[in-house]
Order: sequence, then C-alpha cells, then structure tokens
Amino acid sequence: MESTSGGRQMNRTTRRKFLQASALLPASLLLPAVGQSATHSLGPGFKRPLPIPPLLEATQNGGWGEYQLTAQQGMTRFFDPVETATIGFNGSYLGPTLRMKRGDQVALTVKNSLSVDTTVHWHGMVLPARMDGGPHQVIRPGTSWNSSFTVRQRAGTLFYHSHTHGQTGVQVYHGLAGMLIVDDDESGQAGLPTEYGVDDVPVILQDRDFADDGQLQYLRSMPDRMMGKHGGQVLVNGALAPLLKAQKTRLRLRLLNASNARFYRLQFSDGRPFQVIASDGGLLQQPQARTQLEMAPAERFEIIVDVSDGKSVMLRSLAGSGNVGRGMMSMMMGGLDRDFDLLLIDAAGAKKDSAQTPAVMTRYDDWSQAEIANRRQLDLEMGMGGMMGGGMMGGGFRGGMMRINGQAFDMQRIDFAAKKDSFEIWDIGNPSMMIHPFHVHNTQFRIVSRNGKRPAAYEAGYKDTVVVEPSETVRILLPTGPYADSQHPYMYHCHILEHEDGGMMGQFVVEA
Ligand code: C2O
Ligand code: CU
Ligand code: CU
Repeated sequence: MESTSGGRQMNRTTRRKFLQASALLPASLLLPAVGQSATHSLGPGFKRPLPIPPLLEATQNGGWGEYQLTAQQGMTRFFDPVETATIGFNGSYLGPTLRMKRGDQVALTVKNSLSVDTTVHWHGMVLPARMDGGPHQVIRPGTSWNSSFTVRQRAGTLFYHSHTHGQTGVQVYHGLAGMLIVDDDESGQAGLPTEYGVDDVPVILQDRDFADDGQLQYLRSMPDRMMGKHGGQVLVNGALAPLLKAQKTRLRLRLLNASNARFYRLQFSDGRPFQVIASDGGLLQQPQARTQLEMAPAERFEIIVDVSDGKSVMLRSLAGSGNVGRGMMSMMMGGLDRDFDLLLIDAAGAKKDSAQTPAVMTRYDDWSQAEIANRRQLDLEMGMGGMMGGGMMGGGFRGGMMRINGQAFDMQRIDFAAKKDSFEIWDIGNPSMMIHPFHVHNTQFRIVSRNGKRPAAYEAGYKDTVVVEPSETVRILLPTGPYADSQHPYMYHCHILEHEDGGMMGQFVVEA
C-alpha cells in the first residue's frame, strides 16, 4: 500500500543497523516461539514496558464532547533501533483510547493525512448509519470527516478501525485501530478496577509478520487470503515481548483481539483462574471463573486476575485455536499454529487491593417478551468446490469465493431492510469449512442458541461478534436500534478481515 511503500525501500544503513540489532536481540524476538516455554524460564526477553495507549478524553464544547483523530503515516520501533513503516491515529501505530460516557453527545473529527482513502468505524456502537464509518463514509486524502452521535449504550470495551472498501485488512494490519471505552454510572459503582493504565489495563492483541528488513509483511500467498493473514509474532498494544509491572494486586484486563484473522486461546502460565466480567457490549450479569478463554478476531472480553501472590506470570496463547488450530483447514496450515507468550506480568511491586468482584454486576435487559419483527437466515459461504476445482489457482477467490447467501458484497446492493426499534432473530449458518466470527453493526445482540443449545454463560451477555463453527447455526436476538435511514446502510460480515475484504459481507438499512 502506498502509505508504507516508502518504508519498504530500506537504505543500506538502516538495513545494516537492523542486522546488527538482530544479532543483539533475544532469540525469542526473532524466531518462532515454538517450544520456547519448555526450554526457557518465564519470558527472559520480556522487558519492554507494556505501552498504554494514551487516553483521549473529550474536550467539552457547548454540550458536545469533541475528539480529534488524524490517520497518519509514521515509523514505529518494534525492534529497536529498526524503524518500521506503519500507520496510526495521532501517532505512528494504533491510536489513543477514546473514553466516553453513556448519555454523552460526542463529535469526532477524523482527518485523513494518508495518501489513500480511509474510513473509521466505531465498532460496537449503536448510532446513525451515516455516523458509523463503514465503507460508504469515505475520507479522501487531505480531508476530514465528522461523526456525531449520542452514546446510548451500556459501559463496555469497544474499538475503532479502518473499514475501507477492500482495504480494511491492509490498513488495520499496518496500524489503523484503537480502543474505545464506554463508561456508565453502573460500571463506575460495580466495585471493579477503573484506573486506566493502573489497574484497568488495555490489552490489544495483534499478530504480525516482519520481513528481514523489519518491515511489515501483509498478504504473500493464497493461504493468507483464504485463512486470513496470520503473523508469526504477537504485538500487545503495539509492542513485542512486553512486561507489565502490576501496580495493584487485582487487575482488570480489557482484552481486544484486533488481529486480522488469528484466534487466541488465552491462559496464564501457571494455569491460575481468572474471572470473565464483560463481553463485547458490556458487563456480564455475573462474573464467570475460567482458566482458558478463546477469542476470535474483533471479540472483547474483560477479565479480572488476582496477582496478590507477588509472582511473575505470563499471559499465553495456546496452540489449537481458530482456523489454523482446530478448524477443518488446520491440517494444511499447521505452520501457522503455535503457542505464543504474550505479556509478562510482574507483581512484585503490586499494592494490595482486596476488593471483591460483586456476585451480580448488572442486570441484562429483559427481552423475553420482545416481539420478533423478522427472522432471517444468513449463510457464511466459501466456494470450496470451485476452489479445489482450480478456482484457487485461477484467482477464483477475488471473483466471489467469499459470500453470504450466495452473494459477494456489493457496495451498490442493499441486502434487506429492518424496522427500527424492533427485534429480529437471525440464524447464522456456516456451510463452509472454516470458523467465522460474524459481526453486525449498530447493535449489541444476544446469543439465543448454538445448534439449538444455550450458550455458555460467558458468552450469554451483550455481543456484537459471534463465532460460528462449521456446520453450526448460531441464533441471535438482535435489537435494530432507534435510528431510521433508508439511504445509508449498516454492515454485517465475517470479521476475518481478508474474508470481509473478499466479499463475506452484506448491508442492511433500518427504516421507520
Ligand atoms: Cu469491526 Cu464492520 O467492523
Ligand atoms: Cu462494526
Ligand atoms: Cu470468515
């Protein structure tokens, strides 16, 4: 892509510096992490302080909270002293954490300083379609876009990212994403850690591949397109091998899987249990104790972990998750599946926090009497037959391999209309051989069932992205929201960004 092409031409000095640096770097940074955990003590290379994205709070102006974001090119030091060409918001890679409160009127201005078109989507937000930042809200180079709306939903961990037609994958991969936190009165009183960067810590997971000149490598092969781009190194908040020196013994981690395609199976190195307290769209009714958690692209979970033993503990991702680990395609893709050490937490200096997570944190809205205005079936399809028959080699992928109900995404086609302030039931089917994280804009829905069975408690709360396994039908109950606009659509799609860019996306309008 244009905005990084300058960086690919690395001059001789930079390249030499990189090679010198490589010689000094711990092997853990340069080699695949396979088997490391068995042969090394806990994360010897994990020294870089975990970067905390700066908090961007609103400037108040006549009842509106204003935020300014600029999408810009930059150079990022993932491996000191090598500079990698990246893009970010108000910085070189990723963006600040936007913080808003339920009831706020917000006005966000996004300036595009890149040399290519972009868009910025507020993922998880209920808002008018024109303000959503999907592929229709293009921001041309050198121009700005304004998005304003009232924050109507519950407290939760959302995010924002590029949603540029056909370019979402490459733009997010190079850095166009950030976290967005919504607070409300209830979340402030729930007895949960709330001090940003102290005991309330953003953890943004992204896997990347670096070429030997230190530059990011995006799609290089057909499997990258089919499986979605998987990288061999995992960044946390934009850093490799980071260390979090815990300041409190009770930590709330806001986990965001902002990867293009990789699923993570998270576990602490000593197997300690943690409490899942929130899913995509807000707090769970009751905390759920677990020792492992799988996260698909675009999913968020908040967890509370107790580090009062003062020890060091590694947050890990275990092999065996997602399409490269347990999907039907995993046999072909074994090389992309492995264990990763993600984040070392050192609790030696943590101050005691003996507060308890309340047994009941919130109440879900009662939707049991909701009248269902519509029922829909959406099937997530990949033209595997055609692919095996040669379409794969013939570039059949681009020509509509990725579809929903037989159709690849078309900017000009609105797939259906829903009625505002109503509820719908969607059955998401998956006749393909891959696992797809299905996402719907402008809503926080709830999972009714998976193949007729009730979902586990940790995913029974508010969601905007749901994993759909091959041969599974996931039924969701979805509020259509309060905004009507027959001209501007919302998107629904697979959140493996290469599947989205490849056409596994549709659009709907919400009408009065
Ligand atoms: Cu996170 Cu349509 O996007
Ligand atoms: Cu979204
Ligand atoms: Cu998919």
